[in-house]
Amino acid sequence: MQVNFEEVNFVYNPETPYENKVLKNVSLEIPSGSFTAIIGKTGSGKSTLIEHINGILIANSGSVKLNNFTIEKKKTRKENKLLEKNLVKIREKVAMLFQFSEQQLFANTVLEDIMFAPINYGISKEDSEKRAYELIEMIGLNKEYLKKSPFELSGGEMRKVALCGVLAQSPDILILDEPFIGLDFKSKNELMNLINKIYREQNITIVFITHDMEFVLKYATDIVIMKNGEVVVKTKDKDEFVDILSKEEYNLSLPEIIDFQNALKERGVVLSKLHYDYESLLKDIMSRLEQKNE
Ligand SMILES: Nc1ncnc2c1ncn2[C@@H]1O[C@H](COP(=O)(O)OP(=O)(O)O)[C@@H](O)[C@H]1O
Ligand SMILES: [Mg+2]
Repeated sequence: MQVNFEEVNFVYNPETPYENKVLKNVSLEIPSGSFTAIIGKTGSGKSTLIEHINGILIANSGSVKLNNFTIEKKKTRKENKLLEKNLVKIREKVAMLFQFSEQQLFANTVLEDIMFAPINYGISKEDSEKRAYELIEMIGLNKEYLKKSPFELSGGEMRKVALCGVLAQSPDILILDEPFIGLDFKSKNELMNLINKIYREQNITIVFITHDMEFVLKYATDIVIMKNGEVVVKTKDKDEFVDILSKEEYNLSLPEIIDFQNALKERGVVLSKLHYDYESLLKDIMSRLEQKNE
């Protein structure tokens, strides 16, 4: 599903002393099937932006289009009621995993938690249960986990279960707002691999807010940088992205893999290109070593 922001302006607490103009004339296309990373300093408006995709927030002016459906402020009560009704359907297709998604868990068992959304959207109990069994396996947890209380699990496991919970509704778009916050290195990598697996195996669009430039470089197909409520960069070009990070203009850190390649360059090692992941970098270094040994 494609998303189009058209001249979106959003103000928190309008016409009060707390008025805060957060999104400023944002126009942005999120292509269907993309893995779009949204990055930018804390407070730049990333969460506010993505909450417009399923109508949690509605623009004060401008609109958000999802395929043929438009989310925008309506004038009459009747129109607003109809919009609310349609948003229920939209939210089935646009799933959102918030920061600290373990807080989205609530049921007595993992099974009930995963089955909640599909049942809520009118899928039979049988099919919802089947889906829960498939999903728990897909995320690499034993099916015994379905009987456990979600609150017995480790932090990383809870996030995985929360992810199952939103995948159970078979969304077209999966929005992840800083999904790794507070996780240790291992859990973070596991969850990232899982998200990438979902992206590769399911026909899904991913919108991903993160501060992890390493993952952006490795997995994103489209990169969006926000600053002070505006989209200041939109690119598919990773070399351009690295250039932008190097300039420190947006206060974003350079991934370690780029620092490492810069260090090699300084020592006179010539690589075939700039690498975005370690496997590819390692292959390049190995082939250079082999050439040397011949
Ligand atoms: N519920 C809210 N009420 C008022 N202001 C808010 C609210 N949520 C966020 N803001 C403000 O909006 C701005 C953007 O916040 P946010 O979208 O959360 O940015 P990010 O996700 O990039 O950190 C910040 O100045 C923040 O203080
Ligand atoms: Mg945020």
